[in-house]
Formats: sequence, structure tokens, C-alpha cells
Amino acid sequence: MLSIIVLGTAAGGGVPQWNCGCDNCQAARTSHAELRATQASIAISTDRSNWFLINASPDLRQQLTETPALHPRTLRHSPVAGVILSNGEVDAIAGLLTLREGAAFNLYGHRRVLDLLDANPIFNVLKRQLVPRRPIEADTAFEPQLPDGTPSGLEILPFVAPGKAALFVEDTSANEDGDTLGFVIRDQASGESFVFLAACAALTPEVETYLRGAKLVFFDGTLFTDDEMIRQGLSQKTGRRMGHMAMVAAMPALEALGIERKIFLHINNSNPALMPGAAERQAVKQAGWQIPADGMEITL
Ligand code: MLT
Ligand code: MN
Ligand code: ZN
Repeated sequence: MLSIIVLGTAAGGGVPQWNCGCDNCQAARTSHAELRATQASIAISTDRSNWFLINASPDLRQQLTETPALHPRTLRHSPVAGVILSNGEVDAIAGLLTLREGAAFNLYGHRRVLDLLDANPIFNVLKRQLVPRRPIEADTAFEPQLPDGTPSGLEILPFVAPGKAALFVEDTSANEDGDTLGFVIRDQASGESFVFLAACAALTPEVETYLRGAKLVFFDGTLFTDDEMIRQGLSQKTGRRMGHMAMVAAMPALEALGIERKIFLHINNSNPALMPGAAERQAVKQAGWQIPADGMEITL
């Protein structure tokens, strides 16, 4: 059995974002508290006892508090057995700082992402004897381990997604393969699997091979249209420039891939599909896609 808990659904900044007065953020603060969302992360487990996080969001402390499955079961304990990083953005790594306090877990990431952690001494708060940094490679499946070395029963196949270097190194670092990964995540016992691809700048034939026929895909839902942040006066950047493919491009592109269940993740506060009743939300539903809420659970 493969258990998935969606800890957070929002893109960087969350909903509402601290400095944003857009329609969604204002509504989330006032009339539509149900729009509030923490930054994207999921937890996965084969036994509901030991859990691996895909990314550690800046909201991780709140997410752990609100998720009973992730509460300590003894005086000093955590069900969090490991963290697997798909990229090095702040919204994927800052939650690692929440996981200090001397607990052991395994930290997996591409060399490109681990290099960012290695270059930032604040992450040394996670002592390497307790939190070993384990490099993963594209197209090489690995089995995450519990802190004591016990195999997890998961098999994770990382693959290169079209993306970019983290925002905070954009000026100093050229983009390279490995900056952004997708994962095919499989329960070895049951064979059930799903795909995590919460950042994807474009759908290439290569990426399609990992998505085709999938039972479940979490896909990049940052923006509804490529230029929405420009049109709303929030930013000068397109989605593509930020490494994100817009929903209006993703929906037709994934249509023919025979995916059973499609869920958008990493949804930016500017995205009009967040608003209940909006035409954009209807369009998403019509196309067979789901907009999740924090805390949603799925069992495969
Ligand atoms: C992104 O996914 O584009 C980043 O989270 C941007 C950011 O860190 O603000
Ligand atoms: Mn992000
Ligand atoms: Zn906003």
C-alpha cells in the first residue's frame, strides 16, 4: 500500500503571501479562509509508520503539527524517516531548518541541489552524522532507507525535468540537468506507483515517457496562464521564465497520455483557478484535473 499525504499545495509564498494584495490573497485573509494554503510538499509511506517527505517547505513546522500521522510516538521520536528534494528553491529546502533538534533522517537530493546546501553553512545545523546527504541521480532508481538503514519498501526513479537553477543562485549559476527533478514513486510490494512533477517548464517527449499511463500524477500548477503575473501587475516574469508550464498548456498536453488521476500542485496565489466559482476553476475540472487542499490523503 502506498499512502500519500498532501502536506501543502501552494507555490512559493503560500496563500496568502505575506506581501501580496491580489484577489486570492485578500480573499484568503478575509471571506475565503479555505483558500489558505501552505507551500507544496507531500509525505509518502508504505507502512503509515515511517514517512518520507518530498521537499521540506518553509511551512513544514505547521504541516507537521496539523498531520497526526507525523506526530512523535514516544518522548523523542519522529515518523519522518527522510526527505527527498526535487529542487533547491527556498520553498523546497527551507523546511530542513525545522528538522533540526537532533533527529536522524536521510536526506536525498541531486548533486546540484546538495551543492547548494553544502554552500550554505546554515544547513550544517543538520549534523551529517545524523542527517547524511545522499546524492541521487537521474534515471537511477533508489530505495530510500530508514535512519537505521532498514529498507523503506519504496522505489524512487528520479528523472530530469525541464527547469532551472534555484532563484537565489540564478545570477551566478547556469541551468543544468538535475536542477529540477521529477520522481516516479513506487511501492515495491504492491507495484502501485505515481509521478511527482511539481515543477516542469515544458513537456518534452522524454518527460512524457514517465507520465504515460500513470495512475496518478502531481503536476506543476503554478500559473493558469503564462503571463498572469505580468497582467496582474505582480511581477515582470512569465511562468516559463520561472521554470513553470501554465495550466492552459499542461491540460491539453497531458490529455493524450492516458493518466488516470491528475492533480495540480505548487499552485501560485496569483492563479485564478484557486477561486471557487471562477471560470478557470471550472475549466480545470472540466479537463479532468483536481485542485487539492492541504491535508488531502490518497492511498494507492
Ligand atoms: C519557484 O518555484 O519558482 C520558486 O519557488 C520561486 C521562489 O522561490 O519564489
Ligand atoms: Mn517553488
Ligand atoms: Zn497574491
